Amino acid sequence: MIDAVVHGAGEVIAGPGESYADGAVAVEDGRVVAVGPTDAVTREYPPENAVEQVDADGRAVLPGFVDAHTHGLFAGDRSDEFGAKLRGKTYGEILAEGGGILRTVRAVREASDERLLGDLLGHLDTMLAHGTTTVEVKSGYGLDAATELRMLGIVDAADARHPVDVVPTFMGAHAVPGGRDAEDYTTEVIDEQIPAVAEQGIAAFCDVFCEEGVFSVEQSRRVLEAGIEHGLTPKIHAEELTHLGGARLGAEVGAASADHLLHATDEDAAALAAAGVTPVLLPGTAFSLGAEYADPGQFIDAGAPVAVATDFNPNCHSQSMGMALALACVGMGMAPRDAVDAATRGGALALDREDGTGTLTVGAPGDLVVLDAPSYVHVPYSFGVNRVTTVLKDGAVVHNADGHVSAGST
Ligand code: NIG
Ligand code: FE
Repeated sequence: MIDAVVHGAGEVIAGPGESYADGAVAVEDGRVVAVGPTDAVTREYPPENAVEQVDADGRAVLPGFVDAHTHGLFAGDRSDEFGAKLRGKTYGEILAEGGGILRTVRAVREASDERLLGDLLGHLDTMLAHGTTTVEVKSGYGLDAATELRMLGIVDAADARHPVDVVPTFMGAHAVPGGRDAEDYTTEVIDEQIPAVAEQGIAAFCDVFCEEGVFSVEQSRRVLEAGIEHGLTPKIHAEELTHLGGARLGAEVGAASADHLLHATDEDAAALAAAGVTPVLLPGTAFSLGAEYADPGQFIDAGAPVAVATDFNPNCHSQSMGMALALACVGMGMAPRDAVDAATRGGALALDREDGTGTLTVGAPGDLVVLDAPSYVHVPYSFGVNRVTTVLKDGAVVHNADGHVSAGST
């Protein structure tokens, strides 16, 4: 028996520039072994020989979404800040008053491991139901070595327990703790936190919030270079609220991604493209801040394949890649196909996944979604509505809200 045959799809999006009408996908040992027209795939891999037989019945099949930027592990409730922002308070003002990230830090320090893990698993359930099969989750609400390590341990535990693949990023340099000096805290991150995180061995990436009033370009450089010395691949929050120079820094240190980029220039875009840094665009953040969107054309024209992600966090409360795609199209002017590619292959590039993740090409993980609609366009077109009915992870059905899926005959 092989794992799965998904057949009769109105279209299969196999990867950027590759799709099949009346398509099918076969998965064996967790990996895609065939993709193409249903006739050809089912001749070689008859559905009756598969554990999971999915009749897509004319509906669209896409790679699972790769959400490459979230702060999905948190505690507490900041819904009142939503109202404050609508009344005109800025994100920076809320943070300067000890709210925002610092408020979540207090809640995380007080929360039990069980509570934190339970909440994260709940968010992963929501993500999975909306078609996300790989997600990056950052620490950064601990801001001391013990709590940062605790957060990474919980991210790791969630990865072990949940079908969604969870990629851990260390972000001790997410904010300067109350009453501390930025320079002083930067030294703590470098001398204490990064060595402890490397020793723990969970985090793959090291991220920093390079922003006016948070970490300067020089402080961010020190953090990212210390991370590199300890085997952590750099990522950077760059040009989110102001233009400071984080994108250039990301290019200089060879970051996997530079994220946000609302205030990036054409020169920044060229530098990222030349350095092979993936720009990660987060339209949900601009939407919830009431800010101007990033300009995907800047990066696409420069030759950098972009990623689109949710930035799910207490300031941007959506786990839905479908909603991010609606905003990418309507808010940022992306073509629907470019947006879907950015949410799949683009996300995998931002996470340095070189194994075909984010595509359904032969050899890629068997991570895919079946919509309740004939075309991928329905994902951004049906904003605020989940069009994902069935999700397969490594060839196994892990979410199913549809009667068309039947288990194998044996
Ligand atoms: O990516 N910009 C910094 N970090 C997050 C916000 C986190 C928070 O407000 O809790 C972001 O938008
Ligand atoms: Fe972020």
